[in-house]
Amino acid sequence: MAKIKSRYFCKNCGYESAKWVGNCPSCKEWNTFIEEIISKVEKQSAWEKRPSTSSPKKLSEIESKAEPRIITPDKELNRVLGGGIIPGSLVLLGGEPGIGKSTLMLQVALALDHKKILYVSGEESDHQLKMRAERLGMSSELTFFLTETSTPVIFKHIEALKPEMVILDSIQTMHSNQLESAPGSVGQVRHCAGEFLQFAKETGTPVFIIGHITKEGSIAGPKVLEHMVDTVIQFEGDMHHSYRIIRSTKNRFGPTSEIGIYEMLSDGLKQIPDPSKVLIRNFENSLSGSAIGATLEGNRPLLIEVQALVSTATYGTPQRSSTGFDNKRLNMLLAVLEKRGGFKLSLYDVFLNMAGGIKVEDPAIDLAVCLSIVSSLEDIPLPLKSCFAAEVGLGGELRSVNKVENRIMEAEKLGFESIYIAKQGKIPKSGNIQVKSFDKLVSAFSDIFG
Ligand code: TYD
Ligand code: MG
Repeated sequence: MAKIKSRYFCKNCGYESAKWVGNCPSCKEWNTFIEEIISKVEKQSAWEKRPSTSSPKKLSEIESKAEPRIITPDKELNRVLGGGIIPGSLVLLGGEPGIGKSTLMLQVALALDHKKILYVSGEESDHQLKMRAERLGMSSELTFFLTETSTPVIFKHIEALKPEMVILDSIQTMHSNQLESAPGSVGQVRHCAGEFLQFAKETGTPVFIIGHITKEGSIAGPKVLEHMVDTVIQFEGDMHHSYRIIRSTKNRFGPTSEIGIYEMLSDGLKQIPDPSKVLIRNFENSLSGSAIGATLEGNRPLLIEVQALVSTATYGTPQRSSTGFDNKRLNMLLAVLEKRGGFKLSLYDVFLNMAGGIKVEDPAIDLAVCLSIVSSLEDIPLPLKSCFAAEVGLGGELRSVNKVENRIMEAEKLGFESIYIAKQGKIPKSGNIQVKSFDKLVSAFSDIFG
């Protein structure tokens, strides 16, 4: 009989403790410990039972075979991974349910039709997978589907099939018979991911793990896995918009902060190689309250339309609400506009929206945010074919942003005639686009609004 033991796990970071504690010693979060029944039937995990193949080696004895990355037909995914899939890497694809994780991985598996790929699904039946593939209009003779949730069984099939890549959908449905806790619990999630980590490293097979996260993050989710895996890719997007973004938040083999953009269509996720074009509309007839910000995601310039609506407050406390932009930062910029620009915004409701449901963190969007608000307040449209890239400081000063040349080049490529930036030592050379630089928010205002 297995001995029943219970342990406490932090559901935020996976820290394990014998007793319940209120404040996690590892991640310092409060009230995150949950009890789990654990009973170790065997000491070894399914994969560990195999004979050991490792031995200590000197650096000189280790072969330096730079294994080529697997370049997928999906350029957006390649970019986010840092130039393709590294053999033996463990990649976590996290995102809210329904965002498109299974669709993306199925598309990648079917598009890599010269590789033997095993797609393990614990969520859908064979039939459902077939229907999904038909919807995508894709097929591959080398992609194998396994609907199974028990890791020892999965490894048995893996040993027989010898796939060149494994996709696990999703880690929350997997369970190992060595733990008695339920699938999806912190213990199971960590244990199963650990088994696949060993498998990936020993065989050099890349493994993609899909993990659900909820808005509250309450499910024992990918958070506990982040330190185990090589790469974490976050799938983001607004459910009400068709645009989806993948962003790497951790990458042992490449840069983070690179993004990939897709559009969810009825026949799958379509790559968007030129996102600026789809994110800015109404280029020709400008409306008040709309400003184009030249932002940068990773190394990729992205022009985004910022829309503001300023209207007389109907209740005592004016409302401030933003989508795709940090609310605290919006409040800060409103305070700067009030104090340094003399705009009486405390009498108005302010709504801000980043077009396309994109979340922007680049501070270079500040100037576009301020201008869209003032433009809406005064009901004066901003000059046609102009865009903005500067951070706004608390003193109402404009601060220069990184890689301003790339932003200018992208704006020029898309046919913009002027770009407003912060005054800086050397104003980058430009071709057809006029680069206007200012040291203060108010000087930019007087140039635009007269
Ligand atoms: P899915 O990949 O199942 O999400 P996840 O695995 O992250 O839970 O995607 C689900 C949504 O995508 C669902 O609402 C239907 C939609 N969808 C399309 O719009 N087009 C398609 O071709 C497919 C396959 C799904
Ligand atoms: Mg899914």
